[in-house]
Amino acid sequence: MKDGVRELARQFKAFLQTREEDELTPLSSPQGGAEQVMPAAGQTPENTPQDHLTIEFARTAHKEAENHPAGQMTEMHAPGHQADAAQNTAQHLSAETADTDLFGQTASVSAAVRAEAAQTPQTAPVQEAPVTPQEKQAALDKIAEEIKACRRCPLGQTRIHAVPGEGNPAAELMFIGEGPGFDEDHSGRPFVGRAGQLLDKMIAAMGLKREQVFIGNIAKCHPMVNPQNPEARGNDRAPNAGEIAVCRKYIERQIAAISPKYVVALGGVAAKALISDTKSLGALRGRFHLLHLDTVELQTPVKILATYHPAALLRNPNWKKDAWADLQMVMAEMGLKRPHA
Ligand code: URA
Repeated sequence: MKDGVRELARQFKAFLQTREEDELTPLSSPQGGAEQVMPAAGQTPENTPQDHLTIEFARTAHKEAENHPAGQMTEMHAPGHQADAAQNTAQHLSAETADTDLFGQTASVSAAVRAEAAQTPQTAPVQEAPVTPQEKQAALDKIAEEIKACRRCPLGQTRIHAVPGEGNPAAELMFIGEGPGFDEDHSGRPFVGRAGQLLDKMIAAMGLKREQVFIGNIAKCHPMVNPQNPEARGNDRAPNAGEIAVCRKYIERQIAAISPKYVVALGGVAAKALISDTKSLGALRGRFHLLHLDTVELQTPVKILATYHPAALLRNPNWKKDAWADLQMVMAEMGLKRPHA
């Protein structure tokens, strides 16, 4: 047991060494959504990582794993969830009418966005699922083309590039963030800025390569504070509930096409949208949930685990140990060993 704790401490130390130029990260850095669900500075609610709790958290993670062994998940939805999807969306949209989004953010969602979201099919058409990697890639290519042509919400009018996502069409593991930032808008690729570089390190720490997984976002276009100025850095915000409602069919179809075994939701926005729960990220992370989608029916069960967004980890490096504990849960389920461990 002692050896196990020592090994965990060693791995964790290596993970911490990935920190770099953290001080340079602007507070209003892209994908601040994770920040919205994080406790305010100085607060220490349950699950808030603290440096001196390193070993304690390692143990907690281990205990969690015992409580939720492989194959056991927290079922968040009562049976009939699919049928409730339309009602959920209606609730989301009526929340917006009050100018507050799902995440408690003030959001002005235009009537056009609401109308568009209301048209999003809520039933689950049972489609022939692609099986081979080639079929999956073809399905992903088709979705990507639709995304690139999409102008269903105002984000589609102001983006530079749509960012459909990229990676292995037959991936066992998908990482899903909230939405593109400046670098992604300029390149058309997901997670290529500083947060993306940290995500690459997190993936490598799991013993995987970026090309082995699929990386995507809930929103496919850059949500900007000032949409008139896509050339400005630091002009990022989280997608609001209306934008998520309009865009979610794309990520759901991508998940269905890939049919991964595991999804890691990066940050509170992605976690809440995919787990369909308004609890804080602190309450959602640290255990697997069974993924249910609103617009498509999954042919095989997918487990989803929420963890901190890499942008949040850049701002708060002492949260990395908890993120690492989360990733280790995924590794344990996938039978992955750390490289050179
Ligand atoms: N943050 C996200 O949520 N997605 C990206 O693609 C990049 C940063």
